[in-house]
Amino acid sequence: MRVLGLGRLAVLTIAATATVAVASEDPRIRIDLPPDVRETFLEHMRTHMTSLDEVLQLVGSGRLREAGALARKEMAIGQGLGIGRHMPPEFREMGFAFHRAADDFAKVTATVADPPDAAAWKALVAGLAAITTQCAGCHGAFRVR
Ligand code: HEC
Repeated sequence: MRVLGLGRLAVLTIAATATVAVASEDPRIRIDLPPDVRETFLEHMRTHMTSLDEVLQLVGSGRLREAGALARKEMAIGQGLGIGRHMPPEFREMGFAFHRAADDFAKVTATVADPPDAAAWKALVAGLAAITTQCAGCHGAFRVR
């Protein structure tokens, strides 16, 4: 029992050390935004999470055309919030790539067999993965303050 307890302590210590190391060497590029712009930006980001979820729910229940329409409306088209002009060019590039991926996915939903056969499922999942790759890529590269 005693040995087990020490083992657990060691694991906790390692975990804590790792967390501190990550926090102090954050490799992401920091973008400083005016507080109200940052607030709007993060709020907008949270809608991306909800939209992605809704798109997945629709695909899962076989409502492909609706999934595509939602992806296009919520993720492929800029929402005109005026955030882009506060962002560095590299960020904007990744933003465009994200919008394009969502638009490509919408095109896939409009052209695959409905109900989907095996090839259609593969194309749909690949299209979704192309979107989430953009989320993950940008999150790995940037942070805002
Ligand atoms: C072009 C860059 C970019 C893309 C693409 C992108 N994000 Fe973000 N997102 C960010 C940045 C930058 C932050 C702030 C991270 C930080 O400061 O730690 C963020 C934050 C978030 C947050 C946290 C919001 C909060 O209130 O703190 C969520 C949720 C989120 N993104 C979801 C998504 C999802 C889902 C996608 C894809 C469907 C996505 N994002 C695509 C750049 C991006």
